[in-house]
Amino acid sequence: MRRIAIPVAASSLILSLAGCGVLGATGDSGDASPTKGNDLTVGLLLPEKANTRYDKFDHPIFEKKVAALTDNQGRVEYANADADAARQETQLQAMIDNGVDVIVLDAVDAKAVAGGVRKAKDAGIPVIAYDRLAEGPIDAYISFDNELVGEVQGRTLLEELGSGTAADRIVMMNGSPTDPNAGQFKQGALDELEGQVTIAKSYDTKDWKPENAEANMAEAIDEIGADNIAGVLAANDGMAGGVIKALEAAGVTELPPITGQDAELAAVQRILTGEQFMSVYKSYPQEAEAAAEMAVARVQGRDIQFDALTRDRVDSPTQQDIPSQLVTVVALTADNIKDTVVADGIYPVSDICTADYEEECAAAGLK
Ligand code: BGC
Repeated sequence: MRRIAIPVAASSLILSLAGCGVLGATGDSGDASPTKGNDLTVGLLLPEKANTRYDKFDHPIFEKKVAALTDNQGRVEYANADADAARQETQLQAMIDNGVDVIVLDAVDAKAVAGGVRKAKDAGIPVIAYDRLAEGPIDAYISFDNELVGEVQGRTLLEELGSGTAADRIVMMNGSPTDPNAGQFKQGALDELEGQVTIAKSYDTKDWKPENAEANMAEAIDEIGADNIAGVLAANDGMAGGVIKALEAAGVTELPPITGQDAELAAVQRILTGEQFMSVYKSYPQEAEAAAEMAVARVQGRDIQFDALTRDRVDSPTQQDIPSQLVTVVALTADNIKDTVVADGIYPVSDICTADYEEECAAAGLK
């Protein structure tokens, strides 16, 4: 996928447009008359529940933003597919049948969903791909810089290994092969790791499920030997949890460095205790709020705002030059918990620093 990332410029332009009153209540695009006012319905399709971000952040943040943008008149029709691509197809069809005004889609299977995207398009319903790049004729895409996520994981792991040596054996626990992000995370990490360490085992994890990662890790331990594993590149926090369970079940007390992604609360606490070495913090408000703005702008015919929100361009296997926004990411370690998830209001200190973590919280300056 080609990336032209200028997310900061895009969001500051939005702020300045809003400040100038260009985004007035009646819309002001110049080249399209608004088709709808605030009485609109947005379909939101999210992929799964095994990882906490969707229920805890993406869905509620998105809903709140749609309400704020529509004077509390806009509705969000929400469905979660629970990692089942067939179920998501049914949910997508139901939204088309219900005549929602726009669909924001985080695909379980980016390829398999293309037919459904085409049906929505034929019914005159724009589709915005959310987080994962769905195939088929989408109007726009909002995500993070997913290759950078993998690069950050790989680079931070190498730093922790003291640059690593070719003798260091690493296990790679990648995401679901139906998710194009998983391939990008993997590629970004490999760009850093290849030639520096030995990738002793590499798995693509069905449905991104922590229990599948745990089973794969148990197999890797059997084959390589727990003591011979220098580090684990786990693509997200849920799977890092599964990896840790497998290592502990094998009697490992000194865990090797294990990466993650998503800044899940349990992972932030594991980072404090040293069980998990790092995560990647991705600003859910930036992604979900921008998605809500794009969806509402599209329905209301505010083309200037829509264009300003989607100034990057990416290609999918079925479409070129998709208007996009790619938000940047940051490595999360014990050193910057305060400056990232706490500063952004993702977790109040009281959620992280429960009784079990008092000492670690004090050491990390989180009191
Ligand atoms: C998302 C990750 C998430 C994973 C599993 C990916 O597409 O970008 O944040 O952990 O899916 O749901």
